[in-house]
Amino acid sequence: MRKLVVGNWKMNGVTSDLAEIAAIGDMAINYSRVESALCLPATLISRACDITKSIPIGGQDCHLQQSGAHTGCVSAAMLADAGASLTIVGHSERRAAQHEQDGDILAKAEAAHNAGLKVIICVGETLAERDAGNALHVVLGQVAGSLPQDISGDWLSVAYEPVWAIGTGRIPEMADVKEMHSAIRSALVDRYGAIGNGVRILYGGSMNGDNAAELLAIENVDGGLIGGASLSRAKFEPILAAAEAFGE
Ligand code: 13P
Repeated sequence: MRKLVVGNWKMNGVTSDLAEIAAIGDMAINYSRVESALCLPATLISRACDITKSIPIGGQDCHLQQSGAHTGCVSAAMLADAGASLTIVGHSERRAAQHEQDGDILAKAEAAHNAGLKVIICVGETLAERDAGNALHVVLGQVAGSLPQDISGDWLSVAYEPVWAIGTGRIPEMADVKEMHSAIRSALVDRYGAIGNGVRILYGGSMNGDNAAELLAIENVDGGLIGGASLSRAKFEPILAAAEAFGE
């Protein structure tokens, strides 16, 4: 499996950042043994798709319905219409701030798939949950509750993002990443059989050019979901370069 390296721009990016997005596209095309994408604010998707064809553009969330009376929401069909080819759902920042539950995230993932998007479902424990020894239990519970019953067709990835590693500069011990990714893989194979072996499991949380090679070398780490270090070509490129070394 080629590594999948996805930038999550979160609530960052305005018109003046389109040049940087184009520069990231121009850079990404040089790494042909990596799959990459940029998940942007909805307001930038269509213009980013106009300015670069060199990197797939995605959203960061979608509503679970395709249209209707939901003021302020954006549907998966709208993301696709704007040019997106993927979306993140269930990011911990949304689980926490918007009180999204596993069932909501499952429905969003199905809505996104039905609109023709690839989907990244995020899971991850808080520091309190890890300190209490509950990290595996919490994350496997999220995997069980957030993933749809039918995932055939190579459209789904799972991103393991420990909440306490997001934006903090802290990352887990490599052994802990290995343990978690291996547990997620086992859960996927138990539930979906061989299809579970084809689901990419991304790591996210303070991944950067300095730690990417070590993280991506871990068994069952099939790529990365990158926040801060995806906001510029200069910071994102070393991560793609690290991932390229693993591609066939
Ligand atoms: P950082 O890379 O900024 O820690 O963010 C990770 C993340 O939340 C990606 O979705």
